[in-house]
Amino acid sequence: MQKQYPRSKIYYDHTLDETQNASELSKTVLPFPTVMKNSANKTQIKICNADKSYIANDFKYGYNCMIASMVHIDKDVIIGNNVSIQGLVYIPPKTRIGNNVFIAPQVGFSNDHYPPSEILQGVTIENNVIIGFGAKIIGGVTVGENSIIGMGSIVTKCVPSNQIWFGNPAKFQYPSKRY
Ligand SMILES: CC(C)(COP(=O)(O)OP(=O)(O)OC[C@H]1O[C@@H](n2cnc3c(N)ncnc32)[C@H](O)[C@@H]1OP(=O)(O)O)[C@@H](O)C(=O)NCCC(=O)NCCS
Repeated sequence: MQKQYPRSKIYYDHTLDETQNASELSKTVLPFPTVMKNSANKTQIKICNADKSYIANDFKYGYNCMIASMVHIDKDVIIGNNVSIQGLVYIPPKTRIGNNVFIAPQVGFSNDHYPPSEILQGVTIENNVIIGFGAKIIGGVTVGENSIIGMGSIVTKCVPSNQIWFGNPAKFQYPSKRY
């Protein structure tokens, strides 16, 4: 049976009103790397290799975001400010990512527990989270703010704020400390 996960609060500060829509990107002939600036000449997003990534037209993003190459960002995905998405990351529909988030290479999120089904539950990543290299996070899970997921982890449960979790399945290890 589909699990019920608690609903998460996610904080976008000011960004939701000001998010940019990726359909603007598709209107542009993309140089390498692509840097989109807003009217105040502030960097909105930098895409390292746009023709080697899939980015859905309705993707919404804040300021100062970076997307490396060979990234898949599906429809109905929203990210905040200062989000770094490294190479080979997979982000399916309904994923929500807050501000100041680092997503290391080969990270994957899921959204469908028994595919193909109609019941999709996205992953939610709150502010100031680091997701380590190759970690996989099951749909419906929330990673609380300031937490760190160690590389190679399989995250099957919601992670509270300010904690380090790793392993398969990922478990609480110790309170988070910043690098
Ligand atoms: C989870 C993490 C933050 C822990 O860092 P830390 O607090 O400095 O912890 P340590 O490296 O001292 O490791 C503590 C213990 O946990 C183990 N450990 C650390 N990370 C682990 C992981 N991802 N999976 C399993 N065990 C892990 C270590 O082997 C060590 O075990 P020991 O006590 O038996 O020797 C770090 O290991 C990590 O995974 N960072 C993400 C790196 C990354 O993906 N960078 C992306 C850029 S390419």
